[in-house]
Amino acid sequence: MNAKNLIASVLGTAALVLGLSVSAQAGTWDEMPQAEMEQILDTKFADGKYSRQGADGCLMCHRRNDTVMALFDGVHGRADQSKSPMAGLQCEACHGPQGTHRNKSEPMIVFGGDAPLSAEKQNSVCMSCHQGEERMAWHTSTHNLEEVACADCHKVHVAQDPILDKATEVETCTSCHTREKADMNKRSSHPMQWGEMTCTSCHNPHGSMAEADLISFNLNDTCYACHAEKRGPFLWEHQPVVDNCAACHNPHGSVNDGMLTQRAPQLCLDCHQGHNADRDGTSIHTAGQSCLNCHTQVHGSNHPDRAGSKLQR
Ligand code: HEC
Ligand code: HEC
Ligand code: HEC
Ligand code: HEC
Ligand code: HEC
Ligand code: HEC
Ligand code: HEC
Ligand code: HEC
Ligand code: HEC
Ligand code: HEC
Repeated sequence: MNAKNLIASVLGTAALVLGLSVSAQAGTWDEMPQAEMEQILDTKFADGKYSRQGADGCLMCHRRNDTVMALFDGVHGRADQSKSPMAGLQCEACHGPQGTHRNKSEPMIVFGGDAPLSAEKQNSVCMSCHQGEERMAWHTSTHNLEEVACADCHKVHVAQDPILDKATEVETCTSCHTREKADMNKRSSHPMQWGEMTCTSCHNPHGSMAEADLISFNLNDTCYACHAEKRGPFLWEHQPVVDNCAACHNPHGSVNDGMLTQRAPQLCLDCHQGHNADRDGTSIHTAGQSCLNCHTQVHGSNHPDRAGSKLQR
């Protein structure tokens, strides 16, 4: 540490101590009455007083915090891009105008799941720069409707946002989605453990036009992107396959082979009820064999004769 930095950091520590004692008086967002909170927020989101010193002023007090300083290792800390926060209002582009934060410790805009500010308010900060094509469906996405914040998934005070890295994306998603986490660790699943595939192979976390925020137009199209051979067309189709792959498969994983929701024959009998019972004892259907031994072409058949129509070859 050179002399200049040392002085700055000593100054910073002194101010931090000062700030802390004042902040104890002024209170934080958590203890603040609703009316007061809204009043301050108005100034943060509308016509607040920005500092003249920009980031330098903030760092007087915050430079000892490693999380804060890591901002400069990531894209938002770069000053060489015209749209970057650092080329404009700097820290205050996200945390809002300083106002009296510096002397009376009025709180700043804070982010993430534990933050007391609504997801909508937090997200409006990010959206002020990120209203691009990629987030066109954000407004109607489940995550927005469920009040998930951008900063619940994204980190900005880091060199590399873990959710943008295929090796760590799934971990972030499954920190909330525990059921899918359990599924993907079952006996048969898509190869998501090592980042070969990830949740975003099928989902758009910013929303989409399809159910379950799937990336393609509908569920089956999402699967055909990688399992093209299942698309057909087949001379003899099996209706549920055309309608919905998830009628038989759990795409997140299953204790059954082939990610089947149930094992045959139960899987088949759910829809083909009484298929065991409707024939007499000599029937092929009560021979105790698996349905799949004979009906091998369960996804559809191109065989021209009657056996094809029964999905047998
Ligand atoms: C005079 C010292 C001082 C200055 C200058 C200052 N802060 Fe703070 N800030 C504090 C203290 C003290 C706290 C409360 C303790 C803490 O959480 O670090 C705080 C809290 C915060 C928090 C909330 C942290 C949390 O975890 O809840 C944010 C965000 C923040 N400051 C951003 C800024 C920004 C941006 C600037 C510049 C515009 C700035 N601060 C300038 C002292 C200061
Ligand atoms: C003042 C404008 C501005 C604000 C406010 C802003 N960003 Fe950014 N953001 C940028 C710029 C510029 C880039 C780099 C160029 C790009 O990818 O668009 C960027 C990039 C990103 C990226 C891609 C990062 C990467 O490594 O490729 C993510 C994710 C992101 N921002 C999330 C957020 C979140 C979350 C917020 C709110 C907490 C936010 N941004 C607020 C300007 C902003
Ligand atoms: C549920 C988690 C989640 C939420 C919530 C979320 N994102 Fe993302 N975001 C991601 C993932 C995952 C990617 C990487 C996408 C990919 O690789 O397909 C991404 C990519 C990005 C990128 C970089 C690539 C691009 O699309 O431009 C930006 C910028 C971004 N998000 C901004 C935002 C903003 C702004 C919000 C809030 C309005 C937000 N995100 C909310 C998970 C999320
Ligand atoms: C692009 C938006 C953005 C910019 C620019 C930004 N921050 Fe943050 N800040 C966040 C978000 C989001 C978090 C929550 C943690 C995270 O995402 O990494 C955060 C967290 C913080 C915290 C709490 C850290 C902790 O220990 O939990 C402080 C303090 C803070 N920022 C200060 C600053 C200062 C000082 C600057 C300028 C040097 C700055 N921020 C610039 C978005 C931003
Ligand atoms: C191979 C494609 C695929 C992958 C990979 C995938 N999903 Fe899904 N997901 C789907 C499909 C298809 C649905 C709709 C299921 C249905 O309708 O039965 C769905 C539904 C969901 C739902 C809604 C569940 C419900 O019951 O409404 C959540 C939450 C979800 N996925 C989270 C995740 C998470 C988290 C990951 C990563 C661990 C992930 N998904 C990976 C295809 C996928
Ligand atoms: C902060 C918690 C959180 C994180 C992190 C998170 N989600 Fe979600 N997600 C939710 C909540 C809450 C819902 C709505 C309730 C539900 O379906 O579980 C939801 C719903 C969904 C759905 C169902 C959409 C629908 O229309 O049925 C999908 C798909 C999904 N998330 C995918 C993802 C993916 C992919 C990631 C990682 C990129 C992710 N989520 C990260 C909280 C989160
Ligand atoms: C991004 C590509 C991709 C998408 C999209 C995709 N899959 Fe897969 N699928 C794979 C890969 C890779 C495997 C593993 C192949 C292997 O292990 O040989 C696989 C395997 C499977 C298996 C066999 C599992 C086993 O244990 O034998 C089933 C069933 C399956 N996928 C169903 C689906 C369904 C249903 C969808 C749509 C909801 C879907 N897949 C979407 C890539 C994908
Ligand atoms: C009527 C139930 C059913 C439906 C609907 C269904 N499958 Fe299957 N799928 C099965 C069965 C049963 C197996 C195991 C076949 C075996 O062991 O020979 C299987 C196996 C698979 C496999 C792994 C073995 C192989 O044949 O490659 C993939 C991949 C697969 N299905 C994808 C899909 C896709 C994609 C869809 C939607 C277009 C779909 N399935 C719809 C019942 C179904
Ligand atoms: C989600 C419901 C559903 C499931 C599960 C299902 N099927 Fe089907 N299956 C249908 C429907 C609907 C038809 C079309 C019925 C018709 O045309 O009369 C059909 C048609 C058939 C046919 C051709 C019938 C004919 O008369 O041409 C056979 C064979 C068949 N299924 C076998 C199976 C087997 C084997 C399984 C288990 C691997 C299975 N099905 C699972 C719904 C289902
Ligand atoms: C030993 C071979 C064999 C086994 C095992 C078998 N099937 Fe069949 N199945 C056939 C043959 C052959 C036909 C065609 C009969 C005909 O042409 O009339 C058929 C016809 C069908 C049909 C068409 C409707 C009908 O009644 O003709 C359905 C649906 C069906 N099987 C479902 C099943 C299910 C569900 C199972 C498992 C519980 C199963 N099959 C087990 C050979 C078998």
